[in-house]
Amino acid sequence: MKEAQPKAIFLKDYQAPDFWIERTDLTFDLFEDYATVSSVLTVIRNQEKKIANGNLPVLELVGDDLELLSVEIDNQPWTDYQEGSGFLKVTAPGEQFSLKTVCKIKPQENTSLEGLYKSNGMFCTQCEAEGFRKITYYLDRPDVMSLFTTKVIADKSAYPILLSNGNDIDRGELENGRHWVRWEDPFKKPSYLFALVAGDLQCVEDHFTTMSGREVTLRIFTEAHNIDQCDHAMVSLKKSMKWDEDVYGREYDLDIFMIVAVDHFNMGAMENKGLNIFNSAAVLASPETATDGRFQRVEAIVAHEYFHNWSGNRVTCRDWFQLSLKEGFTVFRDSEFSADMNSRGVKRIEDVNVLRTAQFAEDAGPMAHPIRPESFIEISNFYTVTIYEKGAEVVRMIHGILGAEDFRKGSDLYFDRHDGQAATCEDFVKAMEDASGRDLGQFRNWYNQAGTPVLTVNDEYNEDTHQYQLIIEQSCPATPGQDKKEPFHIPVRIGLLDGEGEDLPLNAEGDTSLVLDVKQAKEVFTFKNIEERPLPSILRGFSAPVRVAFDYSRDDLLFLMENDSDHFNRWDASQRLATSVIEEMVAAMVAGNDVAPDARLITAFGSVIHDESLDLAVKAEMLVLPSEASLAQQAAVVYPQFIHQARQQVKHAIAQAHQGELEAVWRSLSSTKPYRPAAEDIAERTLKNICLGYLTALDEKGTLALAEQQYHGATNMTDRFAALSCVINAGHQDRELMDEVLDDFLKRYQDDTNVMDQWLSVQAASPAMGSLSHVLSLMQHEVFDASSPNKLRSVLGGFASNMKQFHAVDGSGYAFLADQLLDLDKKNPQIASRLLTPLTRWRKFEPAAQERMKVQLERIKNSEGLSADVYEVVNKSI
Ligand code: TRP
Ligand code: ZN
Repeated sequence: MKEAQPKAIFLKDYQAPDFWIERTDLTFDLFEDYATVSSVLTVIRNQEKKIANGNLPVLELVGDDLELLSVEIDNQPWTDYQEGSGFLKVTAPGEQFSLKTVCKIKPQENTSLEGLYKSNGMFCTQCEAEGFRKITYYLDRPDVMSLFTTKVIADKSAYPILLSNGNDIDRGELENGRHWVRWEDPFKKPSYLFALVAGDLQCVEDHFTTMSGREVTLRIFTEAHNIDQCDHAMVSLKKSMKWDEDVYGREYDLDIFMIVAVDHFNMGAMENKGLNIFNSAAVLASPETATDGRFQRVEAIVAHEYFHNWSGNRVTCRDWFQLSLKEGFTVFRDSEFSADMNSRGVKRIEDVNVLRTAQFAEDAGPMAHPIRPESFIEISNFYTVTIYEKGAEVVRMIHGILGAEDFRKGSDLYFDRHDGQAATCEDFVKAMEDASGRDLGQFRNWYNQAGTPVLTVNDEYNEDTHQYQLIIEQSCPATPGQDKKEPFHIPVRIGLLDGEGEDLPLNAEGDTSLVLDVKQAKEVFTFKNIEERPLPSILRGFSAPVRVAFDYSRDDLLFLMENDSDHFNRWDASQRLATSVIEEMVAAMVAGNDVAPDARLITAFGSVIHDESLDLAVKAEMLVLPSEASLAQQAAVVYPQFIHQARQQVKHAIAQAHQGELEAVWRSLSSTKPYRPAAEDIAERTLKNICLGYLTALDEKGTLALAEQQYHGATNMTDRFAALSCVINAGHQDRELMDEVLDDFLKRYQDDTNVMDQWLSVQAASPAMGSLSHVLSLMQHEVFDASSPNKLRSVLGGFASNMKQFHAVDGSGYAFLADQLLDLDKKNPQIASRLLTPLTRWRKFEPAAQERMKVQLERIKNSEGLSADVYEVVNKSI
């Protein structure tokens, strides 16, 4: 039972627990309609907490949806306890005791996918953040770290594989065809890292020898029909293990490392000690079934979860306000890993794209929060792009300020100092300061303050003194609960370009790129011996998560696109230019006029196609127009229909002007060489498919034939899916061809649930196809599964990203989403709350759309029995 009005909890109220749990010995008896969980806790009072009046404190455990069968203390039945909604209060018999509880739970009826649940007939768990309390009564908080043993008992034929954390130390057979395995995890851990799996699974096995020469067994478990899709994850795992040794000096610490793929999962994956559980979409990949994007996502997520073994498990979080301590740091680690394994330039562009579209939008919306929040109602709502991606940018800035060598000293110190502990963000920053001798005092504001800082930059050139000045002012918009902000310490990497596009020396040492440490509200930086007025290249490599306002003319942007030695800023100039052109067109449409796209943009994109100096991967990125989401994020007022229309018009104009070259590039890159998920090959396929995207944006039938040809001739999923998506989103809408290709795709891949997610989302997100009635029909389709978060994300998430259809002027899209979420909230609150996000951004939209969105938010808000998840989001949104 949830309380009527969920309450916020505050970071400032943190208190250490009254008791510790030294050992946790669990026994799971799994049956088809219920499970019993017996838990024996070795409890000891926290000696650092004073006893107030000579009375021992009461041990207050938390639990959700549990049926308590018995309580014993020190092997004797115990009645001095009180069970209430969400808690079990046990009167402590002394300073140290053993508490045994037996609870009955119903994993088969657990649709929230937190705690112990079933996915495709197998038992699995998800305990982060507060799922363990749905398994047994416990001190379910990350600062209570315990040694766990787990005995799993189940029917042997239905569940031949029984897994938990650590090493399997014993096993046996029982009568009635049941068997058991006992696992022991030698490392202390908080309950959120507990995991259990029972099922009929196959596994692939490999080995890794650590830097100190220990042999580690690696196993990836899936259902039998997916066993041939595990190789890429295994290769990625071994690369990750090696990289963490090379770059951080961190070695794996158990004899076995396991990954299990499950189809029903709320997030990407989970770093449970020694037993990672993954959304199958984040593990499985084969050339025939996975696009390049998925191959890279698998590699990144395998790395992310593996890296958590140090940044998360060996050193965990004191409380959930510190979540970015493990998530921000681990995202920074996996992002650097991916950069080292693939194209560093492209990885940076991808990361910044996510940050600037999703995170900047969050920072500007009603749920804005610092990377270390001060309060929350439901922690599940705080697994956000702010905690993860902005958190990673904050760690990246520390890396930039300290330099690689001192950063490594800092991370060594942090791991050594806090190994086996539950730490805070402050501990991390302190270790970085202590190891480097640098002062990160003002830098800490990044942890306290929400909102995206804006750097307003002006420049001045004095022809007589040959001095050039950059005048940088910083400000940060108000966010909920934070009207006024202190200035941030912002590292701003810059360069200055001369009239030839060459970098000018910026100081006596001749550096052509420098980091300016911006700390005041307003600062002036002076550069001497500058012979002509330069053009500044600001925030190179995106050195800080801020917006830059500098009055670049379109010609300036063209110049940067062509000449900047910093490839990130070349790309950024292309995006700024395209954004400004599209914004101008949208403004004209709003005024009832029509404007053709600025010809300079069309020409510039043509030059990019020819530019020999660009590496293929960056070239491909530069040719991608800013997404509708990114355009919406940057617009002062969002007119969804016009954004879609203007962007299409620009795409069409580029295609028309450069049709010949685009087709030539497409042809030259069309190959049948065997698929490899290697960076160079990915770059070729990406560029080729971008060209096809432009060609099929033309409203003529001819170019569709190219897509059709590629679809049928494809030897890998990347090319086949790109072609499918071109047909669906083509300028010339050939319904017959759409149906034919969708049908063919369905027939080929209907047994692969992850491929079917793509099939669903490409339709739901399509302006041409994704009408509400079509989306409803997708939800009736046999490949749809309303209990699968992946399916819900594909259809509802895909539809909500559909500017044209979701924002239909009759408001039907909003009403539909609200209906779906109210229903879903009763089953899976985490997913309901996440899918609600698009509606919470209502303030950004034009007035009529605002009203229509608000009506639906009000309706949700006034509904009975909301989960804490949806309650928090909806109440903060209106
Ligand atoms: N710690 C996980 C990760 O970042 C996140 C996660 C997985 C999660 N499953 C979850 C968070 C369910 C909340 C709920 O890798
Ligand atoms: Zn993580």
